[in-house]
Amino acid sequence: MMKHKRPLAILGDLTAKEFLADYWQKKPLLIKQAIPNFTGLLSPDELAGLACEDEVQSRIVEYKKGKWDVRHGPFDEEVFAKLPEKPTEQHNWTLLVQSVNHHLPEATYLLKQFNFIPHARLDDLMVSYAPDGGGVGPHFDSYDVFLLQGQGKRLWRMSEQTDLSLVEDAPLRILKHFETAQEWLLEAGDMLYLPPHLAHWGIAVADGNVDCMTYSIGFRAPKNQELATEFLGFMQDQFNQDSISLAGIYQDADLTLQTHPAEVSQSMISKVSDILQKIQWDEKDVAAFLGTYLSEPKATIVFEPNKKISKKIFEDKLKKQGIALDLKSQMLFISHAFYLNGESCTCTDESLPLFQQLADNRKLNTQDFVNNTPLNIALLEQLYAWYLAGYLYFE
Ligand code: SIN
Ligand code: CO
Repeated sequence: MMKHKRPLAILGDLTAKEFLADYWQKKPLLIKQAIPNFTGLLSPDELAGLACEDEVQSRIVEYKKGKWDVRHGPFDEEVFAKLPEKPTEQHNWTLLVQSVNHHLPEATYLLKQFNFIPHARLDDLMVSYAPDGGGVGPHFDSYDVFLLQGQGKRLWRMSEQTDLSLVEDAPLRILKHFETAQEWLLEAGDMLYLPPHLAHWGIAVADGNVDCMTYSIGFRAPKNQELATEFLGFMQDQFNQDSISLAGIYQDADLTLQTHPAEVSQSMISKVSDILQKIQWDEKDVAAFLGTYLSEPKATIVFEPNKKISKKIFEDKLKKQGIALDLKSQMLFISHAFYLNGESCTCTDESLPLFQQLADNRKLNTQDFVNNTPLNIALLEQLYAWYLAGYLYFE
């Protein structure tokens, strides 16, 4: 559980409550040494290695003589060899790898430090690498982000401009004009929080022969239109499952002779309108929708089922080792309803603390089972099913 009264080093000794009230979605915050001694979680070569893997989303952004180019991974190793080793102001590049937290167990610990923001708002951890001068140019994002500096340095230019017009025909979002209002040089362990729609420009600065790597902890915010479309789709599925089906059949015992047989009468429109008014929803439907939708994996995510083991062996291992959510799993809850990767289950009062612990901390430790021996049958069944589906793993 989060305590809101304690100053957090990662927020420059602000409490989570102060940060949320004064900065979140409002104004930028520079935090020197947010994570002292942080130099990153992986090397440039390891990041490039990830960018060569099929299931990893990555981009190389190249700037050459006033023109921007974006290529999407997976990349072959030769691609990196062809990029300029000694970049100049006129020719530089950056590699960006999305959802590094799905591939790197160490990232789970890093993301836990951002638990003062609900998991439902977290998008992913993106890691970028750029040699001196590289970056993605002046732009704005639609989402909140914490930009944590790993190895090397990055010069962040901030603007207060309201003109957010973009360069036409560029393959990525580049601001037509950029006016620097302030600039900050971030070193390893420094962090910058940016609210949505704030114009910024990060330029990699090599520290001796150590190139710049930046860790972006990004938060997603669904568009209203997306929420509406997805909700209507969800309700249609509920409807098809008959839980809120409308009884009856269209009736017109009061039919009168029409002048034009081809005309759809006002009377028919009114009757159908009355029928459709019966389609209603309440907060229970919205809650079920949110739990399902916000925990659903992105289309590119695939879960590998675990090798089948007996329930008995599973239970023994569970008690000996504890268990963790797969790095790609998203688990949320609303009261006693738990949502894991778009699937839902309801737990009892007795199992509630354990389920909450798994969702909040992404793992259950052996001591979490001390007061639960023998294991609650329903809890064991559920964990076993999730394990077989590949949603949980033994660390
Ligand atoms: C980066 O290049 O690492 C960060 C990109 C951004 O400004 O959002
Ligand atoms: Co940005």
